[in-house]
Amino acid sequence: MAVPLVDSFGRVHRDLRISITDRCNFRCTYCMPEEGMVWMPREEILTFEEITRVARVAVEHFGVDSIRLTGGEPTVRHRLPVLVEQLAALGADLAMTTNGATFRSLAHDLRAAGLRRVNISLDSLRADRFLELTRRDELDSVLDGLDAAIEAGFDPVKVNVVCMEGINDDEILDFAELGRDRGVEVRFIEFMPLDGGHTWERASVVSGERIIETIGAVHDLVPQARGSEPAETYAYADGRGRVGVIPSVTAPFCPSCDRIRLTADGKLRSCLFSIDETDLRALLRSGGSDDDLAAAMATCVAGKWAGHAIGSVTFVQPPRSMSQIGG
Ligand code: 5AD
Ligand code: SF4
Repeated sequence: MAVPLVDSFGRVHRDLRISITDRCNFRCTYCMPEEGMVWMPREEILTFEEITRVARVAVEHFGVDSIRLTGGEPTVRHRLPVLVEQLAALGADLAMTTNGATFRSLAHDLRAAGLRRVNISLDSLRADRFLELTRRDELDSVLDGLDAAIEAGFDPVKVNVVCMEGINDDEILDFAELGRDRGVEVRFIEFMPLDGGHTWERASVVSGERIIETIGAVHDLVPQARGSEPAETYAYADGRGRVGVIPSVTAPFCPSCDRIRLTADGKLRSCLFSIDETDLRALLRSGGSDDDLAAAMATCVAGKWAGHAIGSVTFVQPPRSMSQIGG
């Protein structure tokens, strides 16, 4: 019998995000250095069986009903469809966040293996800027990956854009058009202090409010009800789909957050910004039972804080960057 995975503020956690690798075929400037990135040693990364076991315990013991695969870049993990098939068998809704560059070659197999939804991260539609931002000349392959996702029947397909002042804030309307043209929801994410280089500053955040004002000046937008989703979503009044913002910095969704995160090396985190982690890999590799794993998960979530407090003097950026936590 599943019991809810609840914290001391009464938030029930049903969404498990699993980073399956810290490696990536891109080197986004806000995420990684150009060279010399030190990857986790292979033996420290959870095997497919270990990942599936943690996910199964989360589903069976706690009724987790939503699983998202992240990285690093999840598609760099070999035999990914095999893992997807194992996880899909658990019955939870299964999604993935990818940079999309190799998605064309994987789309069909991932869909057939039971992946239902996909978010493609894309921060610029200009080839030169894309190259500058990701240090890879792959804009065309990402756009092709996006088309492949739509063709393969992923539903929904979303595009995640991290919007940064003076970097890509002049492309807001271009992204809105991309979403309207291809029938996908574009979601603008406020830039958070999780960058590998620790260069984040408040001034580089473009607020969700400004993004919506910019698009609203051109298209009539109808606000949609906000569920437990972090995105504030708007429908285009002319029926051409939806657009969203994730105001993680200016209007955090911490009070309704239902997410927990497993890192590629098997640490459970109750928040993106957690400093403390719970070592599930140690339990997995020392003969721990399912009940031991469940107890460790419950303890981790019980200790979850109210929110991340970005902007307060007590805020401390976690030592891991986004690529080591998963989005
Ligand atoms: N702030 C906001 N989003 C980020 N991402 C990576 N780093 C940051 C950051 N500092 C995004 C990626 C991707 C998802 C996994 O997280 O661009 O869309
Ligand atoms: Fe890779 Fe994502 Fe980091 Fe870019 S932001 S380097 S795609 S993990």
